[in-house]
Parts: sequence; C-alpha cells; structure tokens
Amino acid sequence: MTGYLNRIGAGKILINKEPLSFDWTPDSLVGRDNELGEIASMFSHIENHNSSCRAVITGPVGSGKTVLTSRFGEDLVKYLDGKRKIVLAHVNCRNHPSTSQVLQRIALILDSGHPERGLSSGEIIQSIRRNLLSHNSHLILVLDEVDILVRRDNFDLIYKLLRIDESQERQGSLSLILVSQDSMLLKLFEPAIISRLGASNILELKPYTQKGLTEIAKQRADIACRSGSINEKILEKIGMMAADSGDARLAIELLEASIRRAESAGRGEVLIGDLEQSITRVTSIEPSQVDGLSKDQKLIMLGLCRRLKKESEINTGDAEKLYRLVCEEYETKPKSYTTFWKHLKFLENQGLIETRGGKSNIGRGRTQHITMNNVAPANLASRIEIDLQR
Ligand SMILES: Nc1ncnc2c1ncn2[C@@H]1O[C@H](COP(=O)(O)OP(=O)(O)OP(=O)(O)O)[C@@H](O)[C@H]1O
Ligand SMILES: [Mg+2]
Repeated sequence: MTGYLNRIGAGKILINKEPLSFDWTPDSLVGRDNELGEIASMFSHIENHNSSCRAVITGPVGSGKTVLTSRFGEDLVKYLDGKRKIVLAHVNCRNHPSTSQVLQRIALILDSGHPERGLSSGEIIQSIRRNLLSHNSHLILVLDEVDILVRRDNFDLIYKLLRIDESQERQGSLSLILVSQDSMLLKLFEPAIISRLGASNILELKPYTQKGLTEIAKQRADIACRSGSINEKILEKIGMMAADSGDARLAIELLEASIRRAESAGRGEVLIGDLEQSITRVTSIEPSQVDGLSKDQKLIMLGLCRRLKKESEINTGDAEKLYRLVCEEYETKPKSYTTFWKHLKFLENQGLIETRGGKSNIGRGRTQHITMNNVAPANLASRIEIDLQR
C-alpha cells in the first residue's frame, strides 16, 4: 500500500533540494556582474566609518531584486570584515507592511530582547541608533517591496530613517536599500527624499532574456541534480518557456516541476515530456483575462497568485486571509465570506483556478485546495498589481 512513498526522496535525480527553493541565495549570480558593480559603486564610501550609503533598486517580478540585495549584503559583510562591523537587516514590507511593524522587525534583529510594544516610532528609531552605536555597528537596511509600506504609511518612515543622524555628533548609523517592482513609485518621492537618496543611486533591473533564464536553470540543476540527469535541451526549453515573462522564478519552478514528474515516474533522467506538461500552465490562459474581472475578483486573484507563485496549492481559509491582507494593502473593505466564496467559484468557472477536495457548494469550515494549473501566478500577480495601481 505505501510502496509509492518510497519515491519520496528516492533521489534518482535530486541530490540537494535546497537550490530549488526560491529563498536560496546562490554563491554567484548569473549575468548580474554589471548590476552588482553598480550597487558597489553606490556603496563606494562604505569603508568610511562616518558614511551612509543609499540605493534604490527596481525591476519586474522575478528579475532578481531580492537575491541581488542578499548577495550584495553578504559579500559586503565579508569584504568589510575587520574594517567595519556591519549588521544586515532585510525586511520584506509585504510581511511587515506598517511603519511600526518594520521598526519592530529591525529592533528585534538587532536585539532579540527588544520590548514588543509600547514605544513610539521616534523612540524605536533612537533605540535602534543607540544599539548600533554601542556595538560600533553599521546597519544595512533593505526595505524590500517598499511600495507596500509607502502606499500604506506614506514616506514618513523613509524620511525619518534618512535623517537618523541629523544633528547628532556621530554620523553613519545606517545605509538604506529600497527595493520595489514599481518604478513609478520613485516619481512619487518628495524632492527632500530624492535629494537625500541621491538621484543617481537608482538601479533598474531588466527582465531576464531566454539565455539568462536557461543559465539560471542550469546553475540550479548543476548543484541540485545528479550529473547527466538533465540535458542541455531541457534547460534551453525552460529558458524558452520562461522568456515571455523574463521571470527567473518561473524558470526555477519549471525545472522543479519537471524533476518532480521524472522522479515520480521512477526515472533518473528528465525528459522533454516532463517539461511539456507545464506548457499548458504557462500558456493556456490569456493573462489579459484578468483585466475583465471586478475589483474584488482581482484582489482575490492577487492574494492567490502571490501565494501560488511560491507554493503549489493554498487552502480556502488561507486564501481568504490573503484576500483580507490585499484589501488592507489597497485600502478596500473586504467582502463577506459568502461573497468571497461566490467570486472563487466564478474564477474557477473562468478556468483561472482549480479547486479540489470537498463539494463545490461548501461553506466555511470545509476546506478546499486551490491550484492554478493553466496560468503562471507570478505573471498574473504583476499584471493585476499594475492594473490596481491605475
Ligand atoms: N541572476 C540570478 N542568478 C541566479 N538566481 C537568480 C538570479 N536572479 C534571480 N534568481 C533567482 O530567481 C528567483 C526570483 O528572484 P528574486 O526573488 O530575487 O526576484 P525579485 O525581483 O525579488 O521578484 P519579486 O518582484 O517577485 O519580489 C529567486 O529564487 C532567485 O534566487
Ligand atoms: Mg523580491
């Protein structure tokens, strides 16, 4: 009965799963030497103990913004070893969308005993500064997906952080890297902020080309898989399939799905057919189909896409929670569960999502699992985000 379980971790192809996780940071990035060089030049004074640096990084979904800041941060810490003590804090504003949540997160990274509540943002900022001074450390703060924070709480926190050392004796407490998909965001910055960030400290990442995506898939395959289990043709096809979006996450996802299919068929080699099963997922629904949805349906889809670009399925309870979070982000009152449910069924009828488990007329309490097999969630998410910002 349980013989099928033997296939889990049989490892006919995979020897190391870790490189297929989206959060894994490779030792070297594929094709981003110039971009790393550009950030390095924005940080050219970082060795100087009184200096603070700034960078703004924008680029479409899966263009490597997050991994670029992680790679740069880790490399810099090593490079400055013995010269300047650096603390890295990478805060994703999607998970910490308000000023107080971001500050709380930074304070906790610096000091795990930081009191949870009861301090104003000004007080937390000064306590962060004191902590850095007392340890003679410099903070490199990455505010990832910063547009979410700005949309919710305006530029107040960024402004305060940029002025953290103003009228203080010692300078150089923190360097700031702002990351956003949305390059329009920069146009909203107030002149005072632009002048403090430095108008030339902006790096715009381009989407990956077919060749770049093939190389990204190859880098992962070389580390994750037995040699000879995935040939060049497969990797080239992955590049081709992900090229429309230019999204590295899609290339990695296609690689992972094809390995999974080959292994569960008991093979030690990935065949083109393993990959082709993903073609419907990449192409069979026109992304423009989401343009015709109502605002609530778009908000629901956005919540689903964000989770499904990282995981293969989501249950209805989580889907509703994500919908509420997205509503908060876009300052919209969420609809009742019944309405949410009706919209889900509509999306299913449109072929945008599939559900399994339970009957279709279920209410709260019975869980269904939602997947997106006909469409790449990452592409849809960015399309909906752009649409909602109009
Ligand atoms: N140049 C690269 N070399 C190797 N891996 C890369 C490269 N660029 C991106 N990746 C990988 O692709 C995936 C997506 O990249 P990342 O998360 O950095 O994109 P992003 O631009 O931050 O996307 P989003 O806008 O959705 O936040 C990650 O797993 C990342 O490690
Ligand atoms: Mg990112």
